Amino acid sequence: MTIKKILITGAAGYLAGFIIERLRSKYELTLTDKVEPKPEFKDLPFMQADITNYAEIEKVCEGHDAVVHLVALVRERFDKPAWLFADVMVKGTWNVAEACAMAGVQRLVNISSISACTPFPEGELPYRVGEPFQFSPGGLYYALAKYLGEQVGEAYYQAHGFSIIHLRPGVIEGDGHNPGPKAPDNLDQAGPTEPWFVYVDPRDVAQAVELAIETQDVMYGSYHVVAGREDSRFDWKQTAEELGYRPEHNWPEIPENSG
Ligand SMILES: NC(=O)c1ccc[n+]([C@@H]2O[C@H](COP(=O)([O-])OP(=O)(O)OC[C@H]3O[C@@H](n4cnc5c(N)ncnc54)[C@H](O)[C@@H]3O)[C@@H](O)[C@H]2O)c1
Repeated sequence: MTIKKILITGAAGYLAGFIIERLRSKYELTLTDKVEPKPEFKDLPFMQADITNYAEIEKVCEGHDAVVHLVALVRERFDKPAWLFADVMVKGTWNVAEACAMAGVQRLVNISSISACTPFPEGELPYRVGEPFQFSPGGLYYALAKYLGEQVGEAYYQAHGFSIIHLRPGVIEGDGHNPGPKAPDNLDQAGPTEPWFVYVDPRDVAQAVELAIETQDVMYGSYHVVAGREDSRFDWKQTAEELGYRPEHNWPEIPENSG
């Protein structure tokens, strides 16, 4: 697999900025979003498109070797109706997968979330990809849309054989909505009784995206992208073993406690 031209969807967003910075010197990037990207990316080609409009997405996918798909309802999503999550995240991801198949894209890197699979309350931690999980009423629309986005990807991998890698970031530090972790108040006493850390630095997510673009060993899979700590609630060691992920920003000032 030789990847030179990469399309970034959701390119005006917070996480996309870190991914664009990481990839821009090595690859020919095209940016797409429904709104204009940040001024620092003005020198990169930009194609405005609405992810829910298949014709627009098919057009922007043409001529690319890989797609990094970031569009989702992220900020201020909490008062939005179910149908909007279905439109933007499920139909949107389906449009991207179909357009990749039509355009002969070799690899789709789908930015999913740890929300796609929430561990059972009594489940073993850290949660590993493929273990049982359950939905709950809180955040159901977002979680279900992320889960269904991965299912769409699996169907397209099976049906069309192009490579699809789902990355599941933890809570991304500094996005304006989640300011970042702080030590639990009781850390110096009994401390948390189970792995509690759910955060990731956006620079480490960008590292994982680069690895997912470049791996020659993996054609399909889902990978947690969280801080490299023993108290991370989601397993990151499979990502380390299979993609070579080496998280560099792990909040050493917060003492680790894996329960
Ligand atoms: N922020 C987090 O803590 C976090 C955690 C895990 C996973 N993620 C995932 O990472 C990705 C990026 O998240 P982010 O925090 O950068 O969010 P963001 O809101 O900054 O970026 C999302 C982008 O999608 C674009 N978009 C929304 N609807 C669109 C549409 N109909 N057509 C085209 N573009 C549209 C927005 O304009 C925005 O630029 C998302 O898939 C998100 O679910 C985020």
